[in-house]
Amino acid sequence: MAGAGISTSAGIPDFRSPGTGLYASVAKYELPYPEALFDIRFFRKNPRPFYTLYEELYPDGRKYRPTLTHCFFRLLEEKGVLLRVFTQNIDTLETLSGLDSDSIVEAHGSFAKARCVECKKLVEPAWLEKRLKNGQVARCEQQECSSKNPAPTVKPDITFFGENLPDRFFERLIDFRSAELLLVLGTSLAVNPFASLIDKVPLTCPRILFNLERVGEARDNYFGSEGFVFEDDSRDIFYPGHVDDTIRTFVQKCGWERQLDTIYNTLQDRLDKEHAADVQPDAKEDITNDQLDAVPSEKKQTETNSDKVLPSADNLAAQLAKTSLEPMHGPLKKL
Ligand code: OAD
Ligand code: ZN
Repeated sequence: MAGAGISTSAGIPDFRSPGTGLYASVAKYELPYPEALFDIRFFRKNPRPFYTLYEELYPDGRKYRPTLTHCFFRLLEEKGVLLRVFTQNIDTLETLSGLDSDSIVEAHGSFAKARCVECKKLVEPAWLEKRLKNGQVARCEQQECSSKNPAPTVKPDITFFGENLPDRFFERLIDFRSAELLLVLGTSLAVNPFASLIDKVPLTCPRILFNLERVGEARDNYFGSEGFVFEDDSRDIFYPGHVDDTIRTFVQKCGWERQLDTIYNTLQDRLDKEHAADVQPDAKEDITNDQLDAVPSEKKQTETNSDKVLPSADNLAAQLAKTSLEPMHGPLKKL
């Protein structure tokens, strides 16, 4: 289960981090409340604030690249141990990383497609991009819509507050019942129904949270207790730190680090080639092997090592490595 925290190292802000999150910087949008940015009732009345952000975040495949954590999902897929990635992210980086579309559930939809809010007709990406680049709000040009004043707005297929989640989210809920290990990465678990999914796995299923902060902790309700319980004798583990660093540590314990780096480097090379014209002469320095092999900073390592929960996370990593099947796909097939 993934959230915005797995894409911050790609340069995309998360929502709720104090200071840097989108909701902390919405003053410029003049909203009645931060979440109005993604509220369908507000959008119908005033699409401008969302469009300002849309223009910034529109994934044209060049601006933002998958992170090491996205490549970790690829690694799990190649090892044959990935059941599904449920992501709240709309940035399409899971797809860009090369994951099989069947491995992904975009729980809050994605920026990949956009359509008219009234007649639901899909629009051409090139048509939309042109309007975004010109700072315009895209309005439907279908005959039945264009005669209205104003014509209905075009909206990406992302789930706004007040809208239903995509059918696929509900169709794949069944996956949680057969999960043997649940990894939760880079999310505040602040939005339902997604947040409640952590309680859909069997009671025997270990759950690991890779996040900067502890979230989703036990909340008592009428039916008993739900949420994480980070105690020595519980099945839940908190793995604190930047997710790309903690994932690297976790993958080291599995003995899979080289494969992860190969996936990451090959992907970066492919994206470099695809967008050769956009790549600045020095940009490749961002992805040197030195950097990839670098151990997490001393400070972070101390924090991680001093955390009591690590030994059991190690055990889980070791178990995961042992139970890995033969790769379902040939390594790097999709690259
Ligand atoms: P949030 O911004 O609510 O939470 C991101 C979490 O990731 C926070 O707990 C951060 O501390 C953590 N984080 C940030 N950077 C990190 C890093 N490099 N390493 C580890 N942890 C990091 O984002 P989401 O939980 O994804 O919905 O937000 C859920 C939903 O709320 C979104 O899908 C969106 C939003 O409103 C809709 O738009 C419908
Ligand atoms: Zn229309």
